[in-house]
Amino acid sequence: MSELSPLFKPLKIGSRVAPNRIVINAMECCDALPNGDPSPETYARYERLFEGKAGIVVLEAITPQYEHRSRKDQLSIREHNIPALKKFVAHLKKINPETILLFQITHSGEISNPEFSTRIRVTKEPLPGYEDAKLVGEKEIDEVIALYIQGAKYAYEVGADGVDLKLCHGYLGSQILRPYNKENWKYGGSWENRKQFAINIYDGVRAAIPDPNFIIGSKISIYEGFPGGCGTLNANSACMDLTESIDLIKTLEAHGANFVLQSAGSPSITLDLAHPDVRTPDYAYIHFYLQKVCRENLKPETAVIGSGYSIYRDGRKGFHAVKRENNTLRFWGEKNISDGIVDAIAIGRQSYADPFLPAKMEKSDDASIKWCTLCDHCVEMLISQTKVGCATFDRKYTDEYVNMIKTKGGIKEKHT
Ligand SMILES: Cc1cc2nc3c(=O)[nH]c(=O)nc-3n(C[C@H](O)[C@H](O)[C@H](O)COP(=O)(O)O)c2cc1C
Ligand code: SF4
Repeated sequence: MSELSPLFKPLKIGSRVAPNRIVINAMECCDALPNGDPSPETYARYERLFEGKAGIVVLEAITPQYEHRSRKDQLSIREHNIPALKKFVAHLKKINPETILLFQITHSGEISNPEFSTRIRVTKEPLPGYEDAKLVGEKEIDEVIALYIQGAKYAYEVGADGVDLKLCHGYLGSQILRPYNKENWKYGGSWENRKQFAINIYDGVRAAIPDPNFIIGSKISIYEGFPGGCGTLNANSACMDLTESIDLIKTLEAHGANFVLQSAGSPSITLDLAHPDVRTPDYAYIHFYLQKVCRENLKPETAVIGSGYSIYRDGRKGFHAVKRENNTLRFWGEKNISDGIVDAIAIGRQSYADPFLPAKMEKSDDASIKWCTLCDHCVEMLISQTKVGCATFDRKYTDEYVNMIKTKGGIKEKHT
């Protein structure tokens, strides 16, 4: 069965080939050293993922500056990090040279954490809840574009196979792209202005790294799910209208994208859309439609990777009107790839619960997989800036979680 599985057919991405179609979604864990270098905990997490033989691992959000960020102990990609990142990449490639490693370059903008950094926003009228963010304009955003390009150059220099130039989940890329960025300025108002941010990053990265083997692409929130969010009709509407999102992915492709990683929602606002949740598991099916829209609008050689697959696990998670065996992660991964809806599937929380899932699935040993229970303790740990891992299956992180509850108390509102 495993040899025939579409999940284990190699995937062409740019000029490279991923050995299978299971992708580890970017998952940040608040465990970098104070200077932004990978710590022993970071090493341990990625060692397991490389031993687990995923086709592609997307390194968690890594920041090219430290003034505006969401996580206190976030990985950074600045000049002083180069030696440590080089060592880190070489170490992982030694464990498993086949797995493709992409770095996710990010900037948090208005959702930076004001406790240890500063929030910046690009809209005159702040989104409710982000009034304390400092309004910035063309000059500052041109600097951010330069930082994204520099981050990608460093990623290339340290041996990463490519970059995910993050445009999703309510971080700065989404803040600029969304219709809510309605005032007319260099990167605001018309769709032409808003998408120029992404175009300038892509053109800059391709010019700075003239190696066609270096993979570039973006994770995008094709529909953010709140008024004025990406994929809505206009600045005041929550009505889904994918016209701009479709044009975005085609534009990225025209400017050199080798892949698009589909996501939806904005975890600080619409968490359950971004991370399909046990309370409303059926919403996860919406991601299939969004994947299909991406697949239909891109050239066959541009890989479409879909998100939101953890909830299916072994078919035991509160869905209705479906047979359990026809609702597993394997079932939907294989079916959606066979049906041409998506080229590869990405797992987020499930990769904490069992980093060895791809290797186990390849051997058809699904019975031994530790299936994510969707308890979301890892999300709570992220919100409270605690080192993140699977609190259910990994004793170290069970202890971290218990200690977090004792010292910081429970999470009042589940928003990242
Ligand atoms: C603790 C945690 C950390 C995350 N970190 C990132 C990140 O660094 N970058 C990103 O794009 N998404 C991040 N996400 C979102 C996941 O990559 C993924 O899109 C989401 O969890 C849905 O997939 P799943 O249902 O398989 O978990 C994170 C999610 C969680 C729970
Ligand atoms: S802590 Fe819960 S939600 Fe997070 S990976 Fe573990 S089982 Fe899944």
